[in-house]
Amino acid sequence: MSGQKIVVLGTGGTIAGTSALAGDNIGYTAAQVGVADLLQAVPALQTLPGCTLHTEQVAQIDSKDMDESVWRTLALRCAHHLQDADVRAIVITHGTDTLEETAWFLHQVLTADKPVVLTCAMRPATSLTPDGPQNLLDAVAVAMTAGARGVVAVAAGEIHGARGVQKMHPYRVNAFSSGDAGPLGFVEEGTVRLLGGWPSNMAQALSGKAFQAIERVAGPDQWPRVELVVSHAGARGALVDALVRDGAKGLVVACTGNGTVHHALEAALLRAQAAGVRVVRSTRCPLGQVLPKPGDALPDAAGLSPVKARIALMLDLLCQRAP
Ligand code: SIN
Repeated sequence: MSGQKIVVLGTGGTIAGTSALAGDNIGYTAAQVGVADLLQAVPALQTLPGCTLHTEQVAQIDSKDMDESVWRTLALRCAHHLQDADVRAIVITHGTDTLEETAWFLHQVLTADKPVVLTCAMRPATSLTPDGPQNLLDAVAVAMTAGARGVVAVAAGEIHGARGVQKMHPYRVNAFSSGDAGPLGFVEEGTVRLLGGWPSNMAQALSGKAFQAIERVAGPDQWPRVELVVSHAGARGALVDALVRDGAKGLVVACTGNGTVHHALEAALLRAQAAGVRVVRSTRCPLGQVLPKPGDALPDAAGLSPVKARIALMLDLLCQRAP
């Protein structure tokens, strides 16, 4: 029997944003309202059958400013609550801008077989028609669904897995997509309609190791430095050379098309790889993934977007460090 407690961790974002003008959906300040007050503003959350909500403010930031230290704190708080038998699920309120990165980070490091549901809003809490309250309700509905598990994102009535979810639009309320994979399911009037299965990776081999590795990180400068570079018309190698000189341990390149790289940038990336820097190719294309070819000089990101490939590489480098 699942526990009946749902822990709601607040991290900020537009869902907690306020504007001086109620009609203003862009000129607001993110991360102003505490997570307890966000829940208070949704009457239906005050009377959940057989379920209690507990809040904790883990951070209060615009998610454009997300960093590894906040991710670590969030993961440790998730792990703490997930091992509590009374806890059924975790809901995380988050900004939309880096939600997919946080979801992927948590997916990579947490092992519990319970739901961890990230939710968000495209309009501030002071909007005339805010989307946050409905998204919160839907996130809690997912958290209460029998059999739900894994790190998922819930917004605009859709449930997305951590691997596929990507913010696709800077303004629309339905800003997220899982590309070719499509959403895992929908939340309709409080009921989940699942299209496939829940994410099943949470017992993956990497997880325990990655969690121990992030537990050991003692300060912000201890994260392996992994940078993103983009291949584009007129790209040059100087940026890569400078990053290597400056101590980058990994580089993810957002390539053109099927993993191709401007020749000048490629030469610098090959120099970096020869010097011991890990280099991974993802693609600038928002759909699909790089199809590797025999003899590729630079490895591909196994279908991860550039920002998620950066996280995977950072965790891999962290796991390789001696304890
Ligand atoms: C943020 O990502 O924190 C601000 C933007 C948003 O939540 O939509």
